[in-house]
Amino acid sequence: MRILAIESSCDETAAAVVEDGVTVISNVVATSHEMHEKYGGIVPEVAARKQLESIIPVATEALKPLQKNNESVHQIINDSIDAIAVTVGPGLIASLLVGVETAKTISMTTGKHLIPVNHVLAHMYANFVNDAPVIASKNEAIPSGSPRSARDDKSIEFPAISLVVSGGHTELYLMESPKKLTWLGGTIDDAAGECFDKSARLLGFGHGGGLAIQDAAKKYNVNDQKYIPVLPRPMLEKDNELNFSFSGLKTAILREVNKLKERELADDEHIAFLSYDIQEAITDVLVKKTMRAIKKYETKSVLLSGGVSSNLRLREKLSTALRQSDLSLSLHVPPVPLCTDNAVYIASYAYFRGKHVPWQTITAVPDLSVESV
Ligand code: KG4
Ligand code: ZN
Repeated sequence: MRILAIESSCDETAAAVVEDGVTVISNVVATSHEMHEKYGGIVPEVAARKQLESIIPVATEALKPLQKNNESVHQIINDSIDAIAVTVGPGLIASLLVGVETAKTISMTTGKHLIPVNHVLAHMYANFVNDAPVIASKNEAIPSGSPRSARDDKSIEFPAISLVVSGGHTELYLMESPKKLTWLGGTIDDAAGECFDKSARLLGFGHGGGLAIQDAAKKYNVNDQKYIPVLPRPMLEKDNELNFSFSGLKTAILREVNKLKERELADDEHIAFLSYDIQEAITDVLVKKTMRAIKKYETKSVLLSGGVSSNLRLREKLSTALRQSDLSLSLHVPPVPLCTDNAVYIASYAYFRGKHVPWQTITAVPDLSVESV
């Protein structure tokens, strides 16, 4: 089954064609990062206007590998696509509408089935995809040396614990099969990605987000110095079980940045230390809660996904914790380009878990629940 997927929930405009949920035929991602750099963050209307301009060229590009004898886009879809998948939420309303209306129009004019997709749940299906290169990406925030994908060693064994860490969400799920998901816990305030993003802005890294913190943290030579953390590791007490909170940590980071500025100590060395401590604080909490969930549900695998799962320190710490725990568990992490927003995992989710509906019934749902799944 060949699915054309469309994703436009935040500032990316993406389209992909994936066969049987695992084989990537195309993956096209356009971002408007440069414009956000100019305005110091995502301006929803700016993002949506850019997406409106990009959606047709991006979808057309994604269909190109299937084109035979100068076929029109309409003919390619008629001949080579079985269904259309689209992100309906959660996300920014104007941005979501661009993708949703495009997908509805394609479904109406071609008669192909339409599959609505929850963006947050879909992130985890990046682990189901065969390792695939990004064919076209304007996303510059991709570090090299992307680790293996799930399929490089063995297929995912169930039950699995799945941690989705993105710019807007930090959620833990129990996955008993590709279809059966149960929400276990999530953030009660800010997401881990938001904490990285806010820290990056406070430290003067602009819109660089978690990747900028990761790069700055590398400059702190932890082997030469004795690392004494200054930041808290929130919500590790037993009562809080599998929920997260990052807003207190954000305030603590603000306090530390202000202290450095007041004492005129905001030099490279201090910024490197604080970046390292921020990364350690966030990843400590993510790893400890994930390990807690693994033990509680006695799972056979663990899946990481979402933009923050491209963090190399998070990957390293979770694999060390698994090794040290004597649990025989496989860790699945998507290749870095499939962690951040793209349409490949939208198609994969649609294949494994989606239900098709008449195009007339689909609407954008900005606050779509990630708990009742
Ligand atoms: O999944 P995603 O692309 O978009 C959402 O659905 O939100 O995630 C974006 C988030 C941002 O907060 C960004 O700072 C974070 O992923 N991120 C990282 C890294 N690369 C992207 N966080 C930590 N380390 C990274 N290397
Ligand atoms: Zn996302």
